[in-house]
Amino acid sequence: HGTSQINNAGHLEIGGCDVTELKAEYGTPLYILDEQLVRQRCREYMEAFKASGLGFQVAYASKAFSVMAMCRLADEEGLSLDVVSDGELFTALKAGFPAERIHFHGNNKTADEIEMAIDSGIGCFVVDNLVELSLLQSIASRKEAKVNVLLRVTPGVEAHTHEYTSTGQTDSKFGFDIGNGSAYEAVRAAASKSNLVLLGVHSHIGSQIFETDGFELAVERVAGFARSVREGLAVDFRVVNLGGGFGIRYVDGDTPLHVSEYVAAITGAVKTYFAGIYDALPQIWVEPGRSIVGDAGTTLYTVGTQKDIPGVRKYIAVDGGMTDNPRPALYQSKYEALLANRATEAASETVSIAGKCCESGDMLIWDVELPEAQSGDLLAVACTGAYNYSMASNYNRIRRPAVVFVQNGQSDLVVRRESHDDLIANDIVPQRIAKQAV
Ligand code: LLP
Repeated sequence: HGTSQINNAGHLEIGGCDVTELKAEYGTPLYILDEQLVRQRCREYMEAFKASGLGFQVAYASKAFSVMAMCRLADEEGLSLDVVSDGELFTALKAGFPAERIHFHGNNKTADEIEMAIDSGIGCFVVDNLVELSLLQSIASRKEAKVNVLLRVTPGVEAHTHEYTSTGQTDSKFGFDIGNGSAYEAVRAAASKSNLVLLGVHSHIGSQIFETDGFELAVERVAGFARSVREGLAVDFRVVNLGGGFGIRYVDGDTPLHVSEYVAAITGAVKTYFAGIYDALPQIWVEPGRSIVGDAGTTLYTVGTQKDIPGVRKYIAVDGGMTDNPRPALYQSKYEALLANRATEAASETVSIAGKCCESGDMLIWDVELPEAQSGDLLAVACTGAYNYSMASNYNRIRRPAVVFVQNGQSDLVVRRESHDDLIANDIVPQRIAKQAV
């Protein structure tokens, strides 16, 4: 998919770049991002919303992959940006992302984060709870600032996805519950705060969702809520943010819809359920992360050792693992892989791909069909653009990989590989236990 293909040498090529050459230039493990595919996904969202005729913003959820070059792509494509910490905000601002198109999320923003965001002039806070609402009002008042606010509401929708990535149900750490009246009281509270401008509401039901029914139900619930708030409190929502969560295909059996189908379902539901509440329909904002970058990413590894347990299993170890991709260990996520330097060879055995961490759970793929892999072969794991680099760790003091963008036969380094010195850059040895020179 995207610009990936097998070239005449039998090598995987992405964005016109042969992965064996990428390995020679940058080493492995290496995250490779197909820039054209990222831009295409951004455009699919923008086009689908334009076709709806509604006012909109598409905010890239930078938690999926937050680096400065990615913020530049999102800006160039006209997207807004969802950040969830001072670190993601800092990254976006340093990349020159326009502050007014940045939306700040999170269920526990600190006073320092709120100050930083107000000082930099971000477009909107998505307020999660009453403690935050008061804190935001007091900081904004001290700074004599007016800040735009969306209230995050929990619509009581159970998304069909992994429980760790499901957020719209009532028993969730996020947001104000519509069902028990707390969202209604939050609107009353927000409307009374003189330094806050209540733009509307936000709902995010979960991640890696294939069906549209959960989104449509969320719109219906939010519309019902909008009606009660209008009637009871005379407050109108100019913005309804429906979050992200649109699924992608990782392996056979995953059945995502096209981006335009998710957008059509949402905008259609807005037209249905908000008709008769307001004269003008609210602006619709969404926050896709995974579906912008997920399938554009490939991780390239070098095969090292192997262990064959006759009649049981053959393990093939690669030079990365749960440190660059924790998703199999965390969510039992499934991936597909290819021997990228022998991509035309037929599969001849079933093997399991192990990482190099001291941990039995450090497995990338259980039971994948491959040609007989040898030490030095290249293994490409597909669909690793979202929640891989951004969730990478230094466990076992393994250095985080480099990231390259590829397009039109050109590769650009966008994150350099960590060095050994990076690993100890924050270490301090107290003088009293320091090794003394003799
Ligand atoms: N908006 C909000 C408020 C969110 O919490 C999230 C994701 C998104 C948007 C973007 O969702 P997406 O379009 O990427 O599904 N680490 C997990 C995913 C966690 C998602 C967290 N929130 C994983 O690797 O599957």
